[in-house]
Amino acid sequence: MNAPFSPSTLEQLRQDLAQTPRQLFINGRFEAAASGKLIDVVDPATGQNFAQVAAGEAEDIDCAVRAARAAFDGPAWSGTHPSARARLMLKLADLIEAHGERIALTETLDNGMPFMMAKFAAVMGAAEQLRYNAGWATKLAGETLNPSSPGEWHAYTLREPVGVVGAIVPWNFPFVMAVSKIAPALAAGCTVVLKPAEQTPLSAVILAELIAEAGFPEGVINIVTGYGETAGAALVDHPLVDKISFTGSTSVGKKIVCAATGNLKRVTLELGGKSPVMIFGDADVERAIPAAAMGIFGNAGQVCAAGSRLFVHESVYDRVVEGISARAASLRLGSGLLPTTEMGPLVSDEQRRRVLGYINSGADEGANVQVGGQAADGDGYFVQPTVLTGTASGMKVVEEEIFGPVLCAMRFGDDDLEAIAAQANASQYGLAASIWTRDISTAHKMARRVRAGTVRINGGGGVDPAMPLGGFKQSGWGRENGKAGVENFTELKSVTVAL
Ligand code: NAI
Ligand code: MG
Repeated sequence: MNAPFSPSTLEQLRQDLAQTPRQLFINGRFEAAASGKLIDVVDPATGQNFAQVAAGEAEDIDCAVRAARAAFDGPAWSGTHPSARARLMLKLADLIEAHGERIALTETLDNGMPFMMAKFAAVMGAAEQLRYNAGWATKLAGETLNPSSPGEWHAYTLREPVGVVGAIVPWNFPFVMAVSKIAPALAAGCTVVLKPAEQTPLSAVILAELIAEAGFPEGVINIVTGYGETAGAALVDHPLVDKISFTGSTSVGKKIVCAATGNLKRVTLELGGKSPVMIFGDADVERAIPAAAMGIFGNAGQVCAAGSRLFVHESVYDRVVEGISARAASLRLGSGLLPTTEMGPLVSDEQRRRVLGYINSGADEGANVQVGGQAADGDGYFVQPTVLTGTASGMKVVEEEIFGPVLCAMRFGDDDLEAIAAQANASQYGLAASIWTRDISTAHKMARRVRAGTVRINGGGGVDPAMPLGGFKQSGWGRENGKAGVENFTELKSVTVAL
C-alpha cells in the first residue's frame, strides 16, 4: 500500500523540525521564551526526540496576555465588523486545508495517531469548526424583552464578548482542540492566549503561522507553548484574563477552578469520562460490535468520550464480547505513518505506564484479561487493545478514567430500564453514553435516564461543531460547540430605556 501522503513533504518537515526550535507566537511575532528554555518533543511511535519548542513560562504568558488585552481593548479587533471576523475565520479554514498534509503529518509525529485519522480529525475537523463558528459571528445577538414593571419601556439584551480568553488544551487531539477553542472565541469577538499540551505542541505552531498569514490583527491570537505547572498555571492565575476554557483531566480542572477565584474569571471545563455503552438484546449486534470496538480502541482509547464501560444484555453478551475481542486481536498496531496501521502508540511513556498499571490493577481485583493486556514490542509506547471481563462496579478499572485502549465488559440480565440506567449512571463522570437497541421507546427512555452530556443511539454521530459537547457531574462545566458553545464566550447585558 502506498503512503497516503507525499514522502517529500514528510522529509522536508522532518528536516525543518530538526533544525530550529519552534517559537512562541506573541503579538504577531515569533520569539524564543524569555528564559531561553526548550521542551524536547518525542515521537511516541519510536521514543525518539525529533524537535524542540520554546518552554514559555510566567513572563511569556504575561506578555501574551497583555498583547491579547491590548488587542481586545483597542479598536483593531473590537471595531471589526462581525462579517470581517467571519471572513478571517473562513480564510484560516482554507489555509488549514491547503496545509492539511503538513498539519496531519505533524500531528502523527507528535501524538502518534494514524495519518488518516489526523487528516480527518485535525484538518477537516478544524476547518469545519472555523466555518461553523464563522456563521455565528454575524448571528450572535440579544433579544427585545417585555418588562412588566409599571411604565413604558424599551428593553433589550446585548451579547458582548467575555474578553481575553485563556485556552488550555490536551494532547489527544491537539490541533482540532486548539481550533475548537479559538473559533467560538473569535466569533464572539474575544482575543485568545492558547497554551498547547507540552507533549504535543507542534501543530499549534503551524496554526500560529497560518493565523499570521490569514491577517488577524496583532495580539488577537497568541500561542505560548510550555508546561502546565508553569505556563498553564500562570495563564489561569493572570488577573487580565477574563475566562479560561480548559480541556484535560478532572484533577487539573479542579485546580483551575480554585486558581480562577483571584479575579473570578469565568471557567468552562471539558474533562474526563467513563462513558457507558449499552447493548440491548434486540440490538443490531453486527453494527454494534465494530462501533463499540472503534469507540474504545480509536486513537488508542485516548478520547474523552471513549466508550470504556460496556454493558451487554446476557442474551447477546458472548457474541458481543467475542466479536470485540476478535477485532482487538486483529488490529494492526504501528507507526501512524504506515498506511496499514489501525492503532498507534499512546502519547508518552508516562501514559503507557499508567494504562498498564490500570490493567494490572484490574487483574489484581479479579478481572479476566480476555485479550491484550500487555505493552507491545518495540521502542514506541504501544499497548495492546485490551478487553477485561468479570469486571464490576467498585473496581478501580471500572471507576477511573484509564485513557487507553482498555474496555471493561459487564452483563445485565433483566429488562428493567431503571436498573440498567442506575448501572450506567454509577460513575463520578457523565460525558457520553451509547445505546444500541431496535426498540425506539427503549432508546429514547434510556436517552432520558442516562446522566451524560452526549447520547448516541445506534452509532449516531461523532463530535460535530453544531452539537453541544460537555459533561454532567465531574465531566465538566458548560458546553462546547453549538450555540451554547459560542455563547459561553459572551456576557449578557440587559438594557432598559424608560420611554
Ligand atoms: P492534564 O490535565 O495534566 O493536561 C491537560 C492540559 O492542562 C495540558 O495543556 C497541561 O499542560 C495543562 N495543565 C496541567 N497542569 C496544569 C495546571 N496546574 N494549570 C494549568 N494548566 C495545566 O492531563 P495529563 O496529565 O496530560 O493526562 C492525565 C490524564 O488526564 C489522562 O490519563 C486522562 O485520564 C486525562 N485527560 C483527559 C483529557 C480529555 O480530553 N478529557 C485529555 C487529556 C488527559
Ligand atoms: Mg498532568
